[in-house]
Amino acid sequence: MTAEANTGARGSIELIDVTKRYGSVVAVDSINLTVKPGEFLSLLGPSGCGKTTTLRMLAGFEQPDGGHILVNGKEVQGVPPHKRDVNTVFQHYALFPHMTVAENVAYGLKQKGVPKSEVSTRVAKALDMVQMSKLAERKPRQMSGGQQQRVAVARALVNRPSVLLLDEPLGALDRKLREEMQIELKLLQSRLGITFVFVTHDQEEAMSMSDRIAIMLEGHVEQIGDPETVYEHPKTAFVAGFVGRNNFWQGTSTGTGVNADDGTLFVATNPEEHVPSGNDALAAVRPECINLVVDQPARSENQLLTTVASVSHFGDVLQYVVSAAEREVVVLVPRTHASRPKVGDRVWCTWAAEDVYLFSARQAEVVMAEALTGA
Ligand SMILES: Nc1ncnc2c1ncn2[C@@H]1O[C@H](COP(=O)(O)OP(=O)(O)OP(=O)(O)O)[C@@H](O)[C@H]1O
Ligand SMILES: [Mg+2]
Repeated sequence: MTAEANTGARGSIELIDVTKRYGSVVAVDSINLTVKPGEFLSLLGPSGCGKTTTLRMLAGFEQPDGGHILVNGKEVQGVPPHKRDVNTVFQHYALFPHMTVAENVAYGLKQKGVPKSEVSTRVAKALDMVQMSKLAERKPRQMSGGQQQRVAVARALVNRPSVLLLDEPLGALDRKLREEMQIELKLLQSRLGITFVFVTHDQEEAMSMSDRIAIMLEGHVEQIGDPETVYEHPKTAFVAGFVGRNNFWQGTSTGTGVNADDGTLFVATNPEEHVPSGNDALAAVRPECINLVVDQPARSENQLLTTVASVSHFGDVLQYVVSAAEREVVVLVPRTHASRPKVGDRVWCTWAAEDVYLFSARQAEVVMAEALTGA
């Protein structure tokens, strides 16, 4: 099914040239996005890139300054939040502290004047979906963060929306609980078949849960695609650095590679971008695509002599940080790797030409900042 074929179906979303400004800040810059019915789409990007603003416009809490938003094929301009076929789950549970779990979930339905008998059936069903039936009489403060967030999801689902908007719903949870909730939410979504638009700045979370990911930067979408595509074929240096990890080298394009400022020569057989010879360019190689070898390879390109600076064990893989001249390179090798160089050893880094990404240096600063913060 194509996105176009689905436009108009229940659970479809379309953003056409949507822009939102706050004074001189362009929070969302002419975004175009189609979400298919039943799709799990993540908006992924660094702080301030416009994720929440996009979600709030979908929910109806903010009005766009330009463009069109369609839900279920209908323009929602002017439609208030409670009349849209969407519900939102926020990062902070925002439950009423004086109400029980069941009362919290029932609240919206009672406001809408849904008959009492129907309210109790729907609340019971929504609590069952998130496995919270047993705690229906608890107050929010008597529950863990994960349990409270399940209640918040139930409170949204009880309205039977065709689209659920989730703004960093797992951001406040510790790592283990977050991973459990990721699996639960994903299972719930595929069971219910409703559309999820899920905001996160955690690339692993986006990768593990989404059908497609829209990677945002400074109010626009850099790239949209399924997790494998955005990982394997990042269209821009920013995406290459934000989704998964990459080692970057700045330099000058040779047309088929990069002559890096540190003297390393990169040859790329599958560049994602063609950068004309002589222009500023970036070469990138993922940590898992670099091999560590003791003997100097018999070639002049795609290799670098380094010294092992540190070795960390991550269970199934070992992370090496090796250094050369003024820079460090991150290398991941499988635990079963034959040779295990030690700190202080001299090793050659080598990589295949098909694993070299080549980008124009448009966003060099952004990428370097991301790389330094390990994002
Ligand atoms: N009510 C507001 N008034 C003024 N500026 C705002 C307002 N809301 C957001 N912005 C600005 O719009 C831009 C996008 O903000 P937004 O909250 O959408 O980012 P985000 O991607 O959700 O970031 P985070 O990951 O930190 O939540 C930022 O520069 C932000 O400062
Ligand atoms: Mg936000």
